[in-house]
Amino acid sequence: MAQKILPLFPKEKVRLFEPFAGSAAVSIAAAANGMVNQIVLNDANEPLMRLWSRIINNPNDLIATYKRLWNDQSGDERQYYDHIRGEFNKSHDPDYLLYLLARCVKASVRYNANGEFNQSPDNRRRGAKPETVAKHILGASRLFHGITVVRYGDFQKAIINANSTDVIYMDPPYQGVCGGRDNRYFEGLPFDGFVEALEDMNRRRLSFIVSYDGRAGDKMYGNTLPSSLNLNHIEVSAGVSSQATLLGRNVETVESLYISPALVKRIGEPRIMKSQPVTQAELSLF
Ligand SMILES: C[S@@+](CC[C@H](N)C(=O)[O-])C[C@H]1O[C@@H](n2cnc3c(N)ncnc32)[C@H](O)[C@@H]1O
Repeated sequence: MAQKILPLFPKEKVRLFEPFAGSAAVSIAAAANGMVNQIVLNDANEPLMRLWSRIINNPNDLIATYKRLWNDQSGDERQYYDHIRGEFNKSHDPDYLLYLLARCVKASVRYNANGEFNQSPDNRRRGAKPETVAKHILGASRLFHGITVVRYGDFQKAIINANSTDVIYMDPPYQGVCGGRDNRYFEGLPFDGFVEALEDMNRRRLSFIVSYDGRAGDKMYGNTLPSSLNLNHIEVSAGVSSQATLLGRNVETVESLYISPALVKRIGEPRIMKSQPVTQAELSLF
């Protein structure tokens, strides 16, 4: 999605806040395209953000640990994974998290109700080779080193000192895909509290973009954000739904992007009708 989100940035270089960073895909793309002069990465998942600090500030040390863990698993992969997962749940050591991310099923994290990492290993694979991981870590480190501040905690605290010249990109946990507690995330996000936070951000005239659920074919996922927020709502194609493909159907997934009035003022009114699907060609008109 990053290539569809970057055209919504102002022309000048900005300070970018990504308060629901996860794997920070949009910050990586913005830095790789020279669109930012500073980045503030934040997530409620503390070990994940400590891993980001290691990637950015101690890449060679992290690479050496990954190589050691990867080699040590040899011949006893299943038990070794369980051992490292147990150690991670006690210590929250970010280097162990990297190993678990590389080895777990479909690279998809899962947490139980106590916040413990409980995803199983992918028994068909040994995890990315140390050389591959080293390449990715050094690439990300080069992009972020010297321009990035890493924080952890609630998104509202992370953007407390944001001002009207910054851009804030938010990709909060999805509401609609799973009912109840979502075990893909360390922490969920109540809808009403999120809407109140957006109202406050509008009062502060902040420039923000929100990725918020969407639909697959005619099926909507989650609530749409209220019109009282006065956000510009566009829909972008996210490709064919893998879930639907598994069920033998060919259904296009559409993601919702919401743009704040302050950002629309800076980039110009998007020449796209509200709630109309938008193609990549249309986005390049901004
Ligand atoms: C949809 S994911 C973000 C994915 C991200 N765009 C990427 O490139 O990987 C949502 C993230 O929000 C984090 N999160 C959940 N509640 C939060 C909160 N209240 N404040 C900050 N982060 C939160 C989760 O830990 C998760 O990493």
